Amino acid sequence: MTEAVKLIKLAEEARERAYAPYSGFLVGAALLAESGKIYTGCNIENAALGPSNCAERTAFFKAIYEGERGFSMIAVVGRAAGIPAEKGEICTPCGVCRQVMAEFCRPDFVIVAAADEKRWKAYTLQELLPAEFGAQNLTEKGAGI
Ligand code: THU
Repeated sequence: MTEAVKLIKLAEEARERAYAPYSGFLVGAALLAESGKIYTGCNIENAALGPSNCAERTAFFKAIYEGERGFSMIAVVGRAAGIPAEKGEICTPCGVCRQVMAEFCRPDFVIVAAADEKRWKAYTLQELLPAEFGAQNLTEKGAGI
């Protein structure tokens, strides 16, 4: 089994833990750290909507809390409740999650956007978030730091 397929399976399992009563869109993610450990996450919604957290960020924040700082790959699976995996569509990370990835990952970090174990597409972070805003911007002239 490839690393990508292993992560897709774990993301699918994590999706079952999603708390998404408002959108009904359940997402799971599995993040491979450079340490070899895998951190999973699900989306966690809120009645006020704004405080909701995506599956990818749940996985990242768990890993960062545990001391991880380097990452190689993440798989994401998302589809509405009640839809079987074989009828789902490929789910790519939202812009906020891409920005969080840019904080901790190199441009060649791999993002596996998956519908199921057979239908997925691998992107690099650079492909999904070119010309990102980062710490380098804050140290340039005029940034005030
Ligand atoms: N969501 C994720 O968890 N990850 C994504 O990549 C896309 C969107 C969540 C946020 C919200 O809880 C629901 O999916 C609908 O947008």
